[in-house]
Amino acid sequence: TGYITIDAGYKNTGATKSAITFLDGEEGILNYRGYSIEDLAEKASFLEVAYLLIYGELPNEKEFADFEYEIRTHTLVNEDMRKIFEGFPVNAHPMGVLSSLVSAMSAFYPETFDQNADDVTQLHIIRLLAKLPTIATWSYKKSQGHPVNYPKNGLDYCSNFLNMMFSLPVADYDVDPVVANALNKLLILHADHEQNCSTSTVRLVGSSHANIYSSISSGISALWGPLHGGANQEVIEMLEAIKNDGGDTQKYIDMAKDKTSGFRLFGFGHRVYKNFDPRARIIKKAADEVLSKLGINDPVLEIAQKLEKAALEDEYFVSRKLYPNVDFYSGIIYRALGIPTNMFTVMFAIGRLPGWIAQWKEMRENKEPIGRPRQVYVGAPKRDFVQMNER
Ligand code: CMC
Repeated sequence: TGYITIDAGYKNTGATKSAITFLDGEEGILNYRGYSIEDLAEKASFLEVAYLLIYGELPNEKEFADFEYEIRTHTLVNEDMRKIFEGFPVNAHPMGVLSSLVSAMSAFYPETFDQNADDVTQLHIIRLLAKLPTIATWSYKKSQGHPVNYPKNGLDYCSNFLNMMFSLPVADYDVDPVVANALNKLLILHADHEQNCSTSTVRLVGSSHANIYSSISSGISALWGPLHGGANQEVIEMLEAIKNDGGDTQKYIDMAKDKTSGFRLFGFGHRVYKNFDPRARIIKKAADEVLSKLGINDPVLEIAQKLEKAALEDEYFVSRKLYPNVDFYSGIIYRALGIPTNMFTVMFAIGRLPGWIAQWKEMRENKEPIGRPRQVYVGAPKRDFVQMNER
């Protein structure tokens, strides 16, 4: 079988060539299809970026209008999916509901990927982009015990999501452009991040030629973990705990340094970024802006700034090159927008969806082989079977 090198966590193993996202962890550079994240977050809409990631180029006006129109016409979710959804307990975590329902979509839209039938794949892509926000808001409505809302197709992508989240049969919700713009920016910043854990999962599952819904559903499950997308929920819970603990940031820093505590500073550190996370820089600035525009004074923001400062002055964090990552300040913005904590990772999933789709599509179009890592066996040597009554 030849010589096998083990690289736990794939720290130095490249799994593919990709033309989607460029990331330089030393310089803190992140580009989607050659466009800088700073430019895109400032100037583009989330759907424009989704188009760019999936099809490789920024859309012209006609291309964008067609793309947006297609998405608008698929935002409704099959009523039978609602019956599945209704079976979940009220306190189900929205990430579990989301991955289950995306997986269930494979039963409703079973046409398989066909290398020679672009329109079939195209329709799956549109359905995913169109329906994910609808499904996501359902899980929130359920937790509130409120009736679900249907999409309003006259609204843009972000406003439609906010309307489904927050309008009630007894009170219409007026979408505040400050809120919609902030959401747009956050979704763009999360849209792709090359071969991270959830994206690698999507590619690996898809490499067996499993359908796109199952592949994306697996990505959602991978994202849920607290070391990955789930960190954004953990960050706010940690900041809240510090606040309730009298604001003693040093205590938490000491705890994170103590390897026996099992505690990590959530929102700190990154596998690839070793000087700063460019997304975190943009989000930190946006958090300040959004809070001041909305007139919100969130004491947790102050705690976050204090914690960041103390960590960046601490030898432990400096020597290990641990900086705030994308998840450190994003939760503060989500909170200001009225999004509840257990929905933060769902927001990440909505943002990451175009990236997962683009990576799945690239993997299939490049006809990549099935993913199948090797191992080095360290278990028992060959031994004889012993009957149960003799064990
Ligand atoms: N708090 C305390 N110590 C840390 C932290 C942290 N947040 N992150 C890394 N370290 C230490 C780690 O213990 C190790 O120390 P030592 O060399 O003494 O053993 C060293 O720094 C290197 O860490 P690692 O775990 O080997 O690094 P990794 O590349 O395997 O892990 C990470 C990267 C992001 C999983 C990790 O930094 C972490 O757990 N951070 C907290 C969770 C988090 O914020 N995740 C979001 C990541 S960004 C968005 C996303 O991917 O979804």
